[in-house]
Amino acid sequence: MRPVVDEEMLQAALYSLQNEKLVMGESVFKFEEEFARYCGSRYAVSTGSGTAALQIALQSMQIGLEDEVLTTPFSFFATSNAVIHAGAQPRFADVEDNGFNLDPAKVEAKLTSKTRAIIPVHLYGQPSRMDEFRDLAEDKEISLVEDACQAHGAEYGGRRVGSLGDTACFSFYTSKNMTVCGDGGMIVTDNVEVADAARSFRDCGRASKYTMSRIGFTSRLNTVNAAIGRVQLRKLDGWNKTRRRIADLYRRMLEGVSGITLPPAETQKETPVYHLFVVRSENRDQLAAHLERNGVEAAIHYPVPIHLQAPYRAKYGYSEGSFPVSERLAEQVLSLPIHPAITDEDVGTVSRLVTDSARE
Ligand SMILES: Cc1ncc(COP(=O)(O)O)c(C=O)c1O
Repeated sequence: MRPVVDEEMLQAALYSLQNEKLVMGESVFKFEEEFARYCGSRYAVSTGSGTAALQIALQSMQIGLEDEVLTTPFSFFATSNAVIHAGAQPRFADVEDNGFNLDPAKVEAKLTSKTRAIIPVHLYGQPSRMDEFRDLAEDKEISLVEDACQAHGAEYGGRRVGSLGDTACFSFYTSKNMTVCGDGGMIVTDNVEVADAARSFRDCGRASKYTMSRIGFTSRLNTVNAAIGRVQLRKLDGWNKTRRRIADLYRRMLEGVSGITLPPAETQKETPVYHLFVVRSENRDQLAAHLERNGVEAAIHYPVPIHLQAPYRAKYGYSEGSFPVSERLAEQVLSLPIHPAITDEDVGTVSRLVTDSARE
């Protein structure tokens, strides 16, 4: 990844610092309005991080004590940590056999009378099968919360992520497809009550300046970051287009290389945004070492599934074998370099190194 800070962003930051309130300045509200419009939703409420967005979204939907929230063990651990921060219990279902995202059939088998929400994660920028999750949740008191932290701008069935669940949460951490040049997050929803509650939660639980309606947090997006976010949002579609072109180039160069499994092919229904371009390899560690020796930085997202992280083993008693597909992925996945500034030549070099390693 390579965060972008261009002249336009610097000017926006400078203007904001010189002319606006540092906290809850005008840029924050403009960014929220523009982000909601971009997603095709009514409201957006910014927060201090993606983790806070998930926690506050759940609390704003009155999900907490005694409630269970189903999600994937193959995600960044913030997804399920946020459930615990909200006071609820995370429950996991395994991912698709031939993909990276939560499997609706496996979720269905795990639903209980306590399940109040499902959090599908659009991992690596690949949209989850939201129609099937919608079918599962409909007629039950189960909410759908999209974890869109890695998927700004991805589309499913002609609609952008962020407009596919009851609420959706985004992160603007510096590695994401768009950032605010610092930490930040966003909750997106069509529900005015959820949006109002989230606005209060992120601002100390305020009802007005010196009265409060709930026990809240200080988790606001700084004005200067919102000002930068507004500029980045305008550039997002262009960057995502470039990411898709690079992914296509990788696909063409790596097609048929033995021992390498490419990410799921695109369908008419899904437009991914390739936050990451992730291949699977039986000899992943050997491949990663070969790339590193040749000056290519690859990464593993994620080497340990959430249920096997120490605090989850201790708290919930998980062990190896609980979610076999996720555990296998953790041993096989490798993220190849992808960002809007990478050159075709670089993609060629990386692809040749992957091919050479596969032949060894
Ligand atoms: C899938 C996923 N969920 C949640 C988060 C949490 O976002 P943040 O780091 O902004 O708290 C991230 C990103 O870091 C993420 O990738």
